[in-house]
Amino acid sequence: MYNIRKVTEDLYWIGSSDRRLALFENVYPIPQGVAYNSYVLTDKKTVLFDTVDSAVAARFFENLRQILSGKPLDYMVINHMEPDHCSQIANIMREYPSVKIVCNTKTKQMIEQFFPQTYAEDTFLLIKEGDTLSTGNHELTFIFAPMVHWPEVMLTFDKTTGTLFSADAFGTFGALNGNIFADEVDFEKDYLDEARRYYTNIVGKYGQQVQMLLKKASALNIEMICPLHGFIWRQNLQFILEKYNKWSAYEPEEKGVVIAYGSIYGNTENAAEILASKLAEQGVKNIKMYDVSVTHPSYIISECFKYSDLIFAASTYNAGIFVNMENLLHDIIAHNLQNRKIFLIDNGSWAPIAGKQMRELLQGLKNCNVSENTISIKSALQENQISALEQMAKEIALP
Ligand SMILES: Cc1cc2nc3c(=O)[nH]c(=O)nc-3n(C[C@H](O)[C@H](O)[C@H](O)COP(=O)(O)O)c2cc1C
Ligand SMILES: [Fe+2]
Ligand SMILES: [Fe+2]
Repeated sequence: MYNIRKVTEDLYWIGSSDRRLALFENVYPIPQGVAYNSYVLTDKKTVLFDTVDSAVAARFFENLRQILSGKPLDYMVINHMEPDHCSQIANIMREYPSVKIVCNTKTKQMIEQFFPQTYAEDTFLLIKEGDTLSTGNHELTFIFAPMVHWPEVMLTFDKTTGTLFSADAFGTFGALNGNIFADEVDFEKDYLDEARRYYTNIVGKYGQQVQMLLKKASALNIEMICPLHGFIWRQNLQFILEKYNKWSAYEPEEKGVVIAYGSIYGNTENAAEILASKLAEQGVKNIKMYDVSVTHPSYIISECFKYSDLIFAASTYNAGIFVNMENLLHDIIAHNLQNRKIFLIDNGSWAPIAGKQMRELLQGLKNCNVSENTISIKSALQENQISALEQMAKEIALP
């Protein structure tokens, strides 16, 4: 049975949610599930904007058939060729053989890679950036956003209604629970953290490209944003645009401290706990502490994008960095984090080396200040090291 939501007069949401998937991209835990959005415009010419993940394909086809109710599908716009959105391209072509695929040359190449078959040349309507396509009452134009996840990514802008089909941009983790508009929920309270975790982990590496997209978007009269995951934005667009601006510029949202520690026997953890108390005594309020062996790195990365000061505390492990901390740091570096103040604590029973190695790794981060004063613990924190923790807390508490 179909499950369709009307977005505007002639635009429909025909997406669906998956609450069974444990790991998005087989990496990121999604305890609240994930939504795959797809949209249909029922103008004189009918247009499908992307498809869905194969997990929800059956629902999607029921929805699409209901909306079209026997009419042909004229166009299928492919904004993003990743399988979580495009798994159904070949099935759409089988069911609607006269459909024209509207995409760019990079996308066409990927379609041919993912779905090897012989394509008639007139299957594709290849567009360049800024081209327009009239569907009757609506005029669509295309904005290229390479690496706003993948190189072929583009956004489609409906000039008639000011609707931006934004691909992965402005999406969030989390299933949709009936409400499909951000203004129908308390987004900031209930969804912002997952939107940040989605952005920082999936697109975070490509801040520069997102900045370019935001610049292009600022020239458009956007009334509504329809992403491929999560909520549609039709009110207070400034809120999510400003968040994207901050995240993609690698600017912290707030003064605050993330303490990530990796500890085998609990001594490094103890130092982290004491430091947190010292910070609190200095009046610091936003202190977020994570055990890197307990919390998935995607959550910690998200917090590192949110806050200004980062502390990494790790024991030495086989003449290296405690393994889960090393993994986190590699991930942070891969996500191109910038503009942070960083402090280090290490531990070792015979040759503590984790601090030195963490410093070497973090040197790759742009515009990050790694404090000179690593606190180095020999097995357990000594009484005379408390003042060093106090000093570190004071340095961090500075505005
Ligand atoms: C598998 C393993 C490898 C270790 N390798 C080193 C090492 O190379 N150098 C060192 O000084 N300590 C090494 N240690 C010892 C711990 O780093 C040390 O006991 C530290 O104090 C543990 O801190 P924690 O209580 O926070 O876990 C190793 C411990 C384990 C379990
Ligand atoms: Fe994607
Ligand atoms: Fe996606």
